[in-house]
Amino acid sequence: NVGNSTNIMWHDCPIQKQDRQQLLQQKGCVIWLTGLSGSGKSTIACALSRSLHSRGKLSYILDGDNIRHGLNHDLSFRAEDRSENIRRIGEVAKLFADAGVICITSLISPYQKDRDACRALLPKGDFIEVFIDVPLQVCEARDPKGLYKLARAGKIKGFTGIDDPYEAPCSCEIVLQQKGSGCKSPSDMAEIVISYLEENGYLR
Ligand code: PPS
Repeated sequence: NVGNSTNIMWHDCPIQKQDRQQLLQQKGCVIWLTGLSGSGKSTIACALSRSLHSRGKLSYILDGDNIRHGLNHDLSFRAEDRSENIRRIGEVAKLFADAGVICITSLISPYQKDRDACRALLPKGDFIEVFIDVPLQVCEARDPKGLYKLARAGKIKGFTGIDDPYEAPCSCEIVLQQKGSGCKSPSDMAEIVISYLEENGYLR
């Protein structure tokens, strides 16, 4: 699908994804973190990137909050704009994975259809959906940016989990739970993802 562009042609380069992966000794992929605001996506993304770095593996984080400062600064939190935010980040993540990089995305990405559309951009297996399963009450109690408080007071409209939906993944590669006594640190959670990458040949 080339949208509104016409008379455009695809150019291939003799240096391909396999060549870059050979150089880097890893397989490019997308680790798609999804979960409510305050669930710990950004912290887990950092712990994961740090752990990969210490193993000599190249990763890069695409964080929703950060990308809304630049590439996606024109987008609001209306459903269509959230979908466009996710679509653009999915496309950028696909380029990183093609570069051979382990791309970690950290977005609420509340709608299943948008996540599925990003999955469909990648070769089979290379889109690894990770649900940060932290209940709303826990996220709201943490309220690291004070946004839940503002949403409850009606000062932010359409806040995910309060008056905007979050569709939890029904089938994804990894679920990281943070409930009751089963509390894990961000680095423990990162290690669960690392084990998945090792078992599936992404780290060589
Ligand atoms: S989305 O839904 O995937 O497009 O959102 P994302 O790009 O990840 O941005 C989420 C961060 O934006 C802040 N924020 C909001 N979140 C949810 N709903 C509303 N209305 C909203 N307004 C601002 C919030 O800080 C989110 O950051 P995280 O890191 O998820 O807490």
